[in-house]
Amino acid sequence: MARETRRDEARVAVVPEVAGRLVAMGAEVHVEPGAGIPAGFDDEAYADAGAVLDPQALEGADLVLAVQPLAPTTVRRIPRGSAVVSFLPTSAADTIGELRDCGVDAWAMELLPRISRAQSMDALSSQALVAGYRSAIVAAGLLRRFFPLNMTAAGTVQPAQVLVLGAGVAGLQAIATSKRLGAVVKAYDVRPAAAEEIRSMGAEAITLDLEDLSGEGGYAKEMTTDRAERQRALLAPHVAAADALITTAAVPGRPAPLLVTREMVEAMSPGSVVVDLAAESGGNVERSEPGRVVRVGDAQVWGGENVPSQMPDPASRLYAANLLALVTLMTTDEPPAADPGAGAAGPGDEAAADTPPPPGPPGPPGERVLRFAPDMEDEVVAKSCVVKDGVVVHEMTRAVLQGGSL
Ligand code: NAI
Repeated sequence: MARETRRDEARVAVVPEVAGRLVAMGAEVHVEPGAGIPAGFDDEAYADAGAVLDPQALEGADLVLAVQPLAPTTVRRIPRGSAVVSFLPTSAADTIGELRDCGVDAWAMELLPRISRAQSMDALSSQALVAGYRSAIVAAGLLRRFFPLNMTAAGTVQPAQVLVLGAGVAGLQAIATSKRLGAVVKAYDVRPAAAEEIRSMGAEAITLDLEDLSGEGGYAKEMTTDRAERQRALLAPHVAAADALITTAAVPGRPAPLLVTREMVEAMSPGSVVVDLAAESGGNVERSEPGRVVRVGDAQVWGGENVPSQMPDPASRLYAANLLALVTLMTTDEPPAADPGAGAAGPGDEAAADTPPPPGPPGPPGERVLRFAPDMEDEVVAKSCVVKDGVVVHEMTRAVLQGGSL
């Protein structure tokens, strides 16, 4: 398992508990020393789980597990013919090119199809859950007033009004967390199906007289310029009435939609708070900046940057569980099938006595030894594969890279 090298990354791909599970499955788990420390897992915990602390972990690996795309220099340390599983967005063009050139196969966690069979591997959902929770906690922390109603001998303090825009996995978690903290919550999503989920969290679903934008696979479609303008106009009074606004809207493969203009934020009451979880992908809120709190009018606008990494313990545990489910699908402890043409001999065949057994994994008889054996006929494995045998096999990634003439 690789140590993360991105400056703001505190998560780790495999937590000690999952390292122990992999060892029990028959894998030899090598961990770069110190890999778990930013997430709160020390080297001893990995050693106790049966992993080997090894500065050369990558040089001998059949399969490398990571959170972020590996740096191109790191890819060069991995043996040709091995594989990497990590997040691998098209923006990591240098890494993808290096994987291709080094003959290292690669799978991207964000490309796993969101079908029921792959739910346990769905890292987009697990990390969005963490980000959604964190967005509500950040909003509550920045707001200089209570989230809940307080009835005291000195009088009643009214609860905060929270507005959530975008009610996918992160938005629903932001709603649930804000409700648990006692705020009055309203939410809006362009998919009418989200209204029921918003209500099931105890929030009010805002309905606007606009066309449905439900797209394929439960995702939203992009807004036209005209639709976007009308949506902003209809949402403006709701934004102005909110003490805390949390935005989580996204459209797959596109920049985040602009839901809230500078003027809409300026119309909020003094001391209001805006949390933009989409700040890194273009921003739902005009002027939001990833990793910074900026002042717009009398409001503070917090732009999210690698938000799941801000809660590295639960984010790593969930991500590691997603990886374990995927690795289980892509490995076997069966010995490789013997080549039917080579060395297959019937009983009594003289030559059979000298024929070595079919190439199987090493180890004492009876002991399980795990082998990486991805089944490319399996839709989950095939659809998440980005690089195979020196070729970028994922079509959309290839198109993006060719656009950048990589
Ligand atoms: P996402 O991160 O792509 O987008 C977040 C939300 O923003 C979505 O609900 C989307 O409808 C909304 N949105 C987009 N444009 C908007 C706009 N202009 N104004 C307001 N809201 C806007 O979505 P996420 O969280 O990945 O989930 C998307 C869908 O995938 C949901 O329907 C969810 O139920 C489904 N899903 C299915 C899973 C499975 O079957 N295994 C797992 C997780 C999610």
